[in-house]
Amino acid sequence: MRLILCPTAVEVAEWAAQYILRRIADFAPTGDRPFVLGLPAGSTPLKLYARLIELYQQGKISFQHVVTFNMDEYVGLPQNHPQSYCVYMRQNLLNHIDIPAQNVHILDGNAPDLAAECAAYEDKIKSFGGVNLFIGGVGEDGHIAFNEPGTSLALSNAPASPERSHAPGQRPLFLTTPARCPPHALTVGVGTILDAQEVMILAQGAAKAQAVHHAVEGCINHLWTISALQLHPNALIVCDEDATLELKVKTVRGLGEPG
Ligand code: GLP
Repeated sequence: MRLILCPTAVEVAEWAAQYILRRIADFAPTGDRPFVLGLPAGSTPLKLYARLIELYQQGKISFQHVVTFNMDEYVGLPQNHPQSYCVYMRQNLLNHIDIPAQNVHILDGNAPDLAAECAAYEDKIKSFGGVNLFIGGVGEDGHIAFNEPGTSLALSNAPASPERSHAPGQRPLFLTTPARCPPHALTVGVGTILDAQEVMILAQGAAKAQAVHHAVEGCINHLWTISALQLHPNALIVCDEDATLELKVKTVRGLGEPG
């Protein structure tokens, strides 16, 4: 695992954006051989998405041959609901870049058979040969996507009941709308994330410091599903200084490779 330490959240976004740009450029994707990117919603990647849009507008990156798979989606929210991850992705990234509509994949939280929807999503990922780079955030309790504390680290995509992650992170988003935060969601499994060639997790702010501690220094433990990253041969955590506050190994600064 590589831990990339950046002074601030702005630099986290910049580092991550440049990394994605480099990865896509090195891969030299084509229509027949697209680059497959896993993407999160949430507040963490907002600055990253804004930076990717800028890089696209400057002609430095193209998404013409990029295929995306989002990590998760609420169950039962209409696709055009302002709090759906589908709307979030359109507003914060997809509407502003040159990605073809058919290259975008987001779990359908209104599918009649949710388990079948998750299985089909897994098959679709496999049909592209897997994810080249899975980007994610992390919850304060160390959950990744909607894999709550106690979720099997071996699972592939599945319906989830993310009651705990709604508490600190997501519920405030719903206070401004008449809708209640949905109790159910669909999520890629930890196993699916671990199957990606590379995983890059972004963490910023002191609220994420416990999660970063458990990811980097804790035991692999289903109570902190982010800790499964330790099993991945190419995992990166990109974090700001506040997110390192709970790290016990004080030489940790020597581990970072910014730039
Ligand atoms: C939710 C989402 C995750 C996200 C996490 C952290 O649980 N399902 O995909 O990573 O929250 O969100 P934020 O980035 O807003 O802190």
